[in-house]
Amino acid sequence: MLTQRPRGTSDILPEAAYWWSELERTVREVCRRYHYQEIRTPMFEHTELFARGVGETTDIVEKEMYTFLDRAERSLTLRPEGTAGVVRAYVENKLFGQADPVKVFYIGPMFRYEKPQKGRERQFHQYGVEVFGVDSPLVDAEVIGLNLDILSTLGIQDVHVELNSVGCPVCRPLHKSEMIRRLTPVANELCSDCQSRLERNPLRIFDCKNEHCQALLAEVGAPTIVESLCDDCSAHFARVRARLDELGIPYELNPRLVRGLDYYTRTAWEYVVPGYSSIGGGGRYNGLVEQVGGPDVPGIGFAAGMERVLMVWEAQRQADAPPRLLDLYVVAADACGRDLAPRLVQAARRRGLAADLDYLERSVKAQFKAADRLRAHFVAILGAAEAADGTVTLRDLDSGEQRVLDWSAALSEVQSRTADGRQAGTRPSLDGEETGGDIQ
Ligand code: HAM
Repeated sequence: MLTQRPRGTSDILPEAAYWWSELERTVREVCRRYHYQEIRTPMFEHTELFARGVGETTDIVEKEMYTFLDRAERSLTLRPEGTAGVVRAYVENKLFGQADPVKVFYIGPMFRYEKPQKGRERQFHQYGVEVFGVDSPLVDAEVIGLNLDILSTLGIQDVHVELNSVGCPVCRPLHKSEMIRRLTPVANELCSDCQSRLERNPLRIFDCKNEHCQALLAEVGAPTIVESLCDDCSAHFARVRARLDELGIPYELNPRLVRGLDYYTRTAWEYVVPGYSSIGGGGRYNGLVEQVGGPDVPGIGFAAGMERVLMVWEAQRQADAPPRLLDLYVVAADACGRDLAPRLVQAARRRGLAADLDYLERSVKAQFKAADRLRAHFVAILGAAEAADGTVTLRDLDSGEQRVLDWSAALSEVQSRTADGRQAGTRPSLDGEETGGDIQ
């Protein structure tokens, strides 16, 4: 047990962590362009928030929460999703007093006690956005499109938006009673989950994976929610679709789409890549802020599962060469080189280059092997010969080209040839820092 992580969790090792931070960087950058600001809320909240916010009849609240009593006997729950906590923070910090909509994004771990499988973990990660204060269909289209921008910036292809409207407290009760009326005569043929759904939330029956339940829905002519929308919801949905069309954001209507959380009203959607489970989903939640104790303010957002996004991304970029993480490896040719190497590495790092060296006094051959293994772009060889005139022998490991240059020219050369180096150099180097001459 000591050396085994809990079921449904994973270690993100350095090689994978690189891609995680690239994904996070892309999320931040696209959110910046859309003018969304970051929000960070606690990893655990009072259990009641999720019971009320996410919904008592959802799988999440019924069977997937990590709930515990703290030492003062308060019931707390590790957040199973991000929206409820963000809504609570919005209400508690009275962010609703502002004239402009509040537009936030978040990135972080979530916890659900689910059966672990590929792309389904107990500790998983989401990035997501939430917008408060605007009911305009323009925001629905913006939020749907924002994640498509993130995914296409990463180079992920084949993402489909499945779109539906799940109505509101005006149209849903009518739909519910119609579902009950049609399905009650065949209720005992439904699976046990759907029998309880029929009483509590019959809309969810559309989400059942059991083929017989789906066949029964067709047989009794159960209406989809989108066929039962009230005039306002119907008009809103038409305007959302028109906005998406105008902005060239592709989508497919899926009248059977039902989300697994109770707070949704009107627009609901999922991001789907064929061959994978849903990589993200979202929707409007116009009643949620009020339900959590705030004013009647509309909200909308989405969240994407980062493990799933990374899985799709990895599969689609398979042909790409792995990234170079080391710009320069300094090889010490002799004792004199070993004396000077740390200073050259320091000067390189201060210019913004990723630079490293041998700490173990290994042979020159072993140092070259290390440079290869670490996939360094350049090697700088330092020894007594170079020390005598303040130079280094710089070798480009890609082309094999080798030149003798003074320190400053060598570092400028590496900078100009490496991606990170091009953006770096923000820290001016100090006089004399880049010459080895005075240490001989
Ligand atoms: P959700 O559909 O429950 O929505 O989760 C969003 C995404 O998180 C899923 O599409 C999936 O990619 C990922 N996900 C969920 N559970 C797991 C898991 N056990 N392992 C790995 N990935 C998982 C929400 O959470 C809403 N809060 C989204 C939202 C934000 N709606 C409005 N604003």
